[in-house]
Amino acid sequence: MIYIKTAEEIELLRESNLLVSKTLAEIAKYIQSGITTAELDRIAESFIFANNAVPGFKGYQGYPATLCTSVNNQVVHGIPSEEVVLREGDVVSVDCGVIKNGYYGDTAYSFEVGEATPEVKRLLVVTREALFKGIGKAVEGQRIGDIGHTVQQHAESNGYSVVRELVGHGLGKKMHEEPEVPNYGRRGSGVKLRKGMVICIEPMINMGKRQIKQGADGWTISTADEMPSAHFELAIAVDKGEADVLSTFSYIEEIFKNKS
Ligand code: MF3
Ligand code: CO
Ligand code: CO
Repeated sequence: MIYIKTAEEIELLRESNLLVSKTLAEIAKYIQSGITTAELDRIAESFIFANNAVPGFKGYQGYPATLCTSVNNQVVHGIPSEEVVLREGDVVSVDCGVIKNGYYGDTAYSFEVGEATPEVKRLLVVTREALFKGIGKAVEGQRIGDIGHTVQQHAESNGYSVVRELVGHGLGKKMHEEPEVPNYGRRGSGVKLRKGMVICIEPMINMGKRQIKQGADGWTISTADEMPSAHFELAIAVDKGEADVLSTFSYIEEIFKNKS
């Protein structure tokens, strides 16, 4: 069952997703060589509580933290840890969720720690571009498959591969609602998009092969070939003509300007 959100619900979802966007920008200030992912998790959690919301991931199917922090060959669902120290040149994908006023926010960004290699920088650029190309298709009258096709086309034409086992999703009073939003697919296939559908589009793009493996902790997903992976996620409301993007990277990217 796909819930069509009212204008009021979309404003509440915008508030939740903007809070996640601001939480990721708060994290961005601290990402540098020497910090642990557990420290990033504490910063995010305090920021969320200070903004009258609660972490969306903690307790979700037993997940133990506020953030997912996935480093280098880790794709998604890396658990923050005191043992994981970020190092110059790493790429860390940070996914964050909140619940505010009963509605979820869910957004992710892949950061380089200091300066990554040119190869990794290109992976980040292409994955971010693939997300925005997908968002360009998230308009009334198009289909779910049009989003996935566009994301896949952009990733593969740049020599990368698309993770298939994990997908985007509807977002609302639950973190994962219907429909599923794969990052691959056939043009013109799948559910027709209607104004008021709220979905997360979240390409997970691998530099090497698309195959993944699950870690012994039961959560962490890594690339089978141990090559780097990137993950960017935004929540959008389907609309006529152009998607209404509910989360944003602009707060994060504002921090980068001030850092350099
Ligand atoms: N936020 C992830 C997604 O984008 C899901 C995380 S599940 C958790 O769909 F349990 F790890 F939090
Ligand atoms: Co997410
Ligand atoms: Co998501």
